[in-house]
Amino acid sequence: MGIEEIGGQKTAGASKIEPTKGKLGVMVVGLGAVATTMIAGVEAVRRGLAKPIGSLTQMGRIRLGKRTDNNFPLVKDFVPLADLNDIVFTGWDIFEDNVYESAAHAKVLDEKTLAELKPFLETIKPMPAVFDQYYVKRLHGTHVKKGKNKRDLANQVIADIQAFKKTVDRVVMIWCGSTEIFMEATAVHESVAAFEKGLENNDIGIAPSQIYAYAALSEGVPFANGAPNLTVDTKAMIELSKKNNAPICGRDFKTGQTFMKTVLAPAFKARHLGVSGWFSTNILGNRDGEVLDDPESFKTKEESKLGSLEYIFQPELYPDLYKDLYHKIRINYYPPRGDDKEAWDNIDIFGWLGYPMQIKVNFLCRDSILAAPIALDLVLFLDLAKRSQELRSIGIQEWLSFYLKAPQTAEGLYPEHDLFIQSMKLKNTLRHIMGEDLITHLGLEYYD
Ligand SMILES: NC(=O)c1ccc[n+]([C@@H]2O[C@H](COP(=O)([O-])OP(=O)(O)OC[C@H]3O[C@@H](n4cnc5c(N)ncnc54)[C@H](O)[C@@H]3O)[C@@H](O)[C@H]2O)c1
Repeated sequence: MGIEEIGGQKTAGASKIEPTKGKLGVMVVGLGAVATTMIAGVEAVRRGLAKPIGSLTQMGRIRLGKRTDNNFPLVKDFVPLADLNDIVFTGWDIFEDNVYESAAHAKVLDEKTLAELKPFLETIKPMPAVFDQYYVKRLHGTHVKKGKNKRDLANQVIADIQAFKKTVDRVVMIWCGSTEIFMEATAVHESVAAFEKGLENNDIGIAPSQIYAYAALSEGVPFANGAPNLTVDTKAMIELSKKNNAPICGRDFKTGQTFMKTVLAPAFKARHLGVSGWFSTNILGNRDGEVLDDPESFKTKEESKLGSLEYIFQPELYPDLYKDLYHKIRINYYPPRGDDKEAWDNIDIFGWLGYPMQIKVNFLCRDSILAAPIALDLVLFLDLAKRSQELRSIGIQEWLSFYLKAPQTAEGLYPEHDLFIQSMKLKNTLRHIMGEDLITHLGLEYYD
């Protein structure tokens, strides 16, 4: 068999992956717009009411072997993923609303769909949350845990996880909670020992999202971070993740504007077209938009959204094309639009001999409709990683950067933001763990 196109990088054979058995428990932190849209969507798909559009795990195919082999199995038939029918949801929120009430409040899904799903959605009631308004200024939580210090709160979350574990076979946790204030790693994040001391001392550097993450990883539970928060992006959490074979990934679901950015920017770069300005603005009226109206939460989001262009364009290597790029991002809270976000991008580019051109992108999207399948895929792939002997002990699952705005990487490694590199990386990782040949698209063997 000619393996040129498929890489010359034959993998050594399938690494061991435990089969899916029994129920997969999904613990969701923050039962707001994204979470309820994911949960309701999974139930709608299970009942045959709708299709899981936007989900690679449910609808995607993966090419195996040469182009002439014509072999494109469904991803979910190729790798052992939990079946949607085997997923059980639970979660935490700072409000007492059950998933039906919260979904009705979010107004993402229409009333008819929600009414059909109501008996199921009503059964999922949030557990009291770990919350502190210092970290999310615009929210006033009422359904919150009380504890003598952060260690006590972490222990309460650990107890929630242990109780849930008794009812299911495997557990994954995902943060779909609000964006916390901008934070950077400090001494308390240097090691697990320092972090644990910080829990005892109520260190200000430990935000609620980190307490959930610590609890999950202590229990060997994989953790995905759908928000731009620091959460698992610290030495302490990476150490804990590796120690307990609990895979992690973050940060921030890549849904609307950044999704488009990481498609368009690689195209300009590939053609060596220059970019002098990229102005991105958004209007958004859901609770996420309200939280992001606070400058401290906005800063966390801004940092997460800003990084992609810098890494894609590599201005230090292409100063003539990208050195003077002015990149600006704005998010404006505008209640009438609810979850139906509108994003505008004005892109000033230049071509041959420096002649300027403009591109305008106006994306009228639905934030949570785009985010829900991403949250689902992350949960299913983290569960796969946990069952894979090769992936479970490496900590950060960089192959999931496809889904993330500010992908977490090993120390000293710059993140890949180009959506198509990310897609190839994801699929090659699946081929690799299943012992299939990697695909590099060289293709010379067709012309032998
Ligand atoms: N919707 C998208 O397309 C998208 C894209 C990328 C990232 N995100 C991020 O995902 C997160 C969720 O977005 P959303 O639109 O569902 O927001 P949302 O405001 O509708 O939901 C967040 C929920 O988290 C709860 N919460 C806040 N702090 C909590 C805590 N400490 N413990 C438990 N629950 C807590 C809130 O009460 C709320 O119900 C946000 O951080 C957002 O920035 C969303």
